[in-house]
Amino acid sequence: MKYHWYQNSIFYSLDVETFFDSNGDGIGDFQGLIDKLDYLAALGITCIWLLPFFPSPNRDNGYDVKDYYNIDERLGNLGDFAQLIDKAQVYGIKIIIDLVVNHTSIEHPWFREARKDRNSKYRDYYVWSDEPVEFESVELSFQGEENTMWTFDEQAGQYYLHRFYKEQPDLNIMNADVRDEILKIMGFWLSMGVSGFRIDAAAIIIEPHGIKGAEQEELEKFFEEMRHFLAAKKTDAILLAEANVKPEEVATYIKGESRMHMIFNFFLNQYLFLSLAQGKVQPLIKTLRKLPGIQPAGQWLNFLRQHDELNLNLLTDKERQQVFKQFAPDESMQIYGRGIRRRLAPMLDGNDALLKLSYSILLSLPGVPLIRYGDEIGMGDDLSLEGRESVRTPMQWTSEPNAGFSTRAKGRKVIEKGKFGFPKINVLSLQSQGDSILNWIERLFSIRKQCPEIGSGEFEIIEQDNECLFVHHFRSEHGDLWFAHNFSGDPVTFSREELVGKSKKWVHIFGSRDAGEDRALQIDGYGFHWWRSINK
Ligand code: NOJ
Repeated sequence: MKYHWYQNSIFYSLDVETFFDSNGDGIGDFQGLIDKLDYLAALGITCIWLLPFFPSPNRDNGYDVKDYYNIDERLGNLGDFAQLIDKAQVYGIKIIIDLVVNHTSIEHPWFREARKDRNSKYRDYYVWSDEPVEFESVELSFQGEENTMWTFDEQAGQYYLHRFYKEQPDLNIMNADVRDEILKIMGFWLSMGVSGFRIDAAAIIIEPHGIKGAEQEELEKFFEEMRHFLAAKKTDAILLAEANVKPEEVATYIKGESRMHMIFNFFLNQYLFLSLAQGKVQPLIKTLRKLPGIQPAGQWLNFLRQHDELNLNLLTDKERQQVFKQFAPDESMQIYGRGIRRRLAPMLDGNDALLKLSYSILLSLPGVPLIRYGDEIGMGDDLSLEGRESVRTPMQWTSEPNAGFSTRAKGRKVIEKGKFGFPKINVLSLQSQGDSILNWIERLFSIRKQCPEIGSGEFEIIEQDNECLFVHHFRSEHGDLWFAHNFSGDPVTFSREELVGKSKKWVHIFGSRDAGEDRALQIDGYGFHWWRSINK
């Protein structure tokens, strides 16, 4: 079978701006990230997803790009980027970047030209209309922050479409020149050494709404053009779809080996939180059964939290309310009427056992795990910041002022107070505490990488009478791997013997405690076990 590097990988997402400031100007930078690659390598990360680092007015945290061929000068320059790639290669770490091409910044030269002159070739790079057009069943992306998708531009004398903020005009993907520009951007960054792209807003890129004469099928073919281009330039580079879609829509993005290699598992993410909220595994099981198999060509990218809100839009109203009640009871913790603007650790009330259960589940489900910077130390959020900024505070490195993130007193605001404040929650302190979540996660990553069957094996769920117990299994050429997770706070007993009979013995590999070869497994509240079965 063909081996794909990403199948047994650990993804880590970070924003250069909030990771580490090397020059004391209060803003994280590429040299800072280069300094911290030692840390990431030691943690066991194998692929970094860099959030947008391009020149940008930063209306949307860099997701409004004004020059695709450059680096935001506050963060460094292309030389620093090349150094990062070089050093990452030494450590065997791949770098993937965001390709934000559903829209540009309003300050991008294409848009400046487009609004100035109806006859410019750039006019048709964007989507215009004389009147705002209503679309049926299209959700506003930032309800409450941006309440329209069409904004009138005085200079252009027309409305332009923007599915996100009005400072992010949508590109017209039907225009062949736009598609060529996108491929050119991809070519540039591939030649800079990246190993692939997270395709931002992939689901919106292929929506024909507002574009005259556009057909969804035609737009979807663009993913195939991207894949061909990528395959010709760099055979092992990947396309990762950021598409928050239902299981039946996944094929649009993966489609054998002809479109993307990976897709974010938003559907699973939402139901996993429902299961955690209920302390019951049915939502998780039902969801896993609904997910289409996308192996061996494709992979799910599983995650708990990322840099946006925890979007719960695929749940029913009742289910969403259950998750809100458990994890975001205060309205200030909710956003856009559909999501939660909190980090993982505070949502779980800093409960170590629950945090470990969540990570153990994440790392043992079919697919590839993604973790976000700071989640490995159980970082908190700052709800006094606006919107999604609450979960984007700087990394907490030490108990020094500014969390060791920057030497500048007035840089980006770090979390100072409370149980998630940097004096307590920081890399250095947690590294020196033997049983800290950080040291535990390092071990979890190491074990996960020694279990390649999770990324490629045959997956099976073994349903239990106990509604809190989730048992699953992978079979592959490497052997049999088993897992049991207890979603309740009370201990449970589970008989391993019934699984495969008496002819096998158990080899404990990981868990909330060492279960050795016990046939009747005692699982603590929120406990879990990983083991292999081998012939006696
Ligand atoms: C998805 C990104 O994750 C989000 O942060 C951004 O606001 C939108 N796409 C628009 O680019």
